[in-house]
Amino acid sequence: MSILTLPGLIDVHVHLRDPGQTHKEDFYTGTSAALAGGFTTVLDMPNNAEPITTVERLDAKIASAHKQIVSDIGFHFGTLGDNFAEFEKVIDRVTGLKVYMNVTTGNFKIDADSLIEIYKAWPGSKPILLHAEDDVSDIVFKTLAAVPKQTHICHVSSEAELTFVMKAKEKGLPITCGITPHHLFLTSEDGDKLGAYGHMKPFLKSQKDIDFIWAHMDAVDLIESDHAPHTREEKDSDTPPFGVPGLETTLPLMLTAVAEGKLTQAQLIEKLHTTPARLFGIAVDEATKVEVDMSEYEIKNKDLLTKCGWSPFNGRKVVGKVKTVYLHGTKVFENGKVLALPGSGKIIS
Ligand code: DOR
Ligand code: ZN
Repeated sequence: MSILTLPGLIDVHVHLRDPGQTHKEDFYTGTSAALAGGFTTVLDMPNNAEPITTVERLDAKIASAHKQIVSDIGFHFGTLGDNFAEFEKVIDRVTGLKVYMNVTTGNFKIDADSLIEIYKAWPGSKPILLHAEDDVSDIVFKTLAAVPKQTHICHVSSEAELTFVMKAKEKGLPITCGITPHHLFLTSEDGDKLGAYGHMKPFLKSQKDIDFIWAHMDAVDLIESDHAPHTREEKDSDTPPFGVPGLETTLPLMLTAVAEGKLTQAQLIEKLHTTPARLFGIAVDEATKVEVDMSEYEIKNKDLLTKCGWSPFNGRKVVGKVKTVYLHGTKVFENGKVLALPGSGKIIS
């Protein structure tokens, strides 16, 4: 058995649904899935059932996490453009500000005209993360040119979106972007076959878009799972919500890409560890590491620790199964089992 040792991976984009929708996921199952996928730090999004737009809701979220987490975790704050008085109160306790400019789960889309006011109001230097698909890139560009605050474009999914980020970088704007494995490994045709289980925002794109992104991986700053669990019952309903889980499949998919020569191992570490740590100011601990068994295996729904219990990659053969995880020197995961006690992870900001 060949073992690869990696630093603890960082996922800057997960939806752990706690509080409010713990039938989909909770902080214990979500951070367990993180460890099973080699992630020792996750940054959680604010589109909870009640969006995290006030200090009271942030407090309640942190209190719930405190009791349950088995990995480290940080929280992005939310805004609908009407809570600027809260920003100073939370700035030291969050990792960034998430703004939705397109429709997705939760319907927390802002009025695009308010983006500039949000930029002016956000204090300090922590990143603003945008869900900004191609249709709103002009507004993003104008806003960023007028108020050049550090901006991360979440889940770029197409040639047009990545080209926009590349051009903004050329103009010297403080912009980075992430890509999800589902946008790298699934086409819109796969989406048709998967039905609701391939239904997410942004939508899956064409092979041409995917080829463009693989050819320009140097312009992609990081990989983010956008782990977005929903129950099978919800997915099988007449109005399936957007989103797919990803914490346990991101690393094996990316290691398989390395084995196929689509990415180097150095790029994998940079996009799943070094760059996320630098961008979000996350302290790196040498005693936090992951040992991965590099044998081939098949992703199976029944083996997943996420509460939703399914993956759009069920049945896919990959290399790289997380064997052991050490968090700050303590063995917290081994051979499919979480060893850490609930509440033993750290809350970061
Ligand atoms: O597919 C998605 N699901 N995209 C998002 O932006 C949100 C996420 C969710 O929260 O379910
Ligand atoms: Zn998301």
